[in-house]
Amino acid sequence: MNFYTEFGKVKEKYAKYRPTYPDSLFTEIMSNLKSPYKNAIDLGAGTGLSTAFLRDNFQKVYAIEPDKSMVNELQKINKNVEIFSCAAEELEMIEADIDLITSGNAFYWMDGEVIISKIYKWLKPNGIFAVYKYNIPTTISAAEKIISEEDKKWDEFRHERLKDKEYSIRTIKNSNLFSDVKVKVIDNTINLTGEEIVGFFSSTSYGSAYIRTIDNPDKYIDRLIDKIKNITNERPIPVNFNLELIITKK
Ligand SMILES: C[S@@+](CC[C@H](N)C(=O)[O-])C[C@H]1O[C@@H](n2cnc3c(N)ncnc32)[C@H](O)[C@@H]1O
Repeated sequence: MNFYTEFGKVKEKYAKYRPTYPDSLFTEIMSNLKSPYKNAIDLGAGTGLSTAFLRDNFQKVYAIEPDKSMVNELQKINKNVEIFSCAAEELEMIEADIDLITSGNAFYWMDGEVIISKIYKWLKPNGIFAVYKYNIPTTISAAEKIISEEDKKWDEFRHERLKDKEYSIRTIKNSNLFSDVKVKVIDNTINLTGEEIVGFFSSTSYGSAYIRTIDNPDKYIDRLIDKIKNITNERPIPVNFNLELIITKK
């Protein structure tokens, strides 16, 4: 089964409920590069949450996304963006003069061993590979109990790669291609309403896979939103989307 093909099924939810990345993430990444910023690649671009930043800051951006439905959304980010609608493993590039390669919440879906040597080849000397992800978001609010109860059902649909928290760093280090590997935590707390929290989980691979198995998904979603609303008095609550950022330089 190709897990990457599943995201398109929840494209609307993804576009509506996936939070954008904080400016501090991109500030940190860019602090490792010297201008002029010419070429960038976004691997597993999805709806373009990172591609949009790259488009505004680089002369030319290549967005790699195999899921056709996600590509439809990605096409809204045009201008200097060229989209390759294929898996990163299949991509035969272009030009080996890339300043920055990003992969947000996507690298762990890929065949890391194959991709990492391609990344090395595509980057120019001193070019940067930035791979980042958040773990399963948590909240300090009383709503956490409700979410973690539901999570027991979703967990059955959670791919092993999502549980393998060291996959990206291990793949990069085992390649022996990059000598300079740094890991940083980027604080990222976002206030979300009950609807937004449930919307987020409905856009995940595991949440959406669970929801596809039940009889009345809309009722399930509405009831979960109501439960969270009741316990939070309908107020937005802080949700921890802290990012683990791995930066490597060629
Ligand atoms: C969780 S989404 C992240 C999307 C986007 N980078 C973001 O931060 O919102 C993971 C994306 O990786 C894509 N993907 C999965 N396997 C891939 C592969 N082998 N090559 C390229 N993209 C892949 C999926 O189709 C999906 O759009």
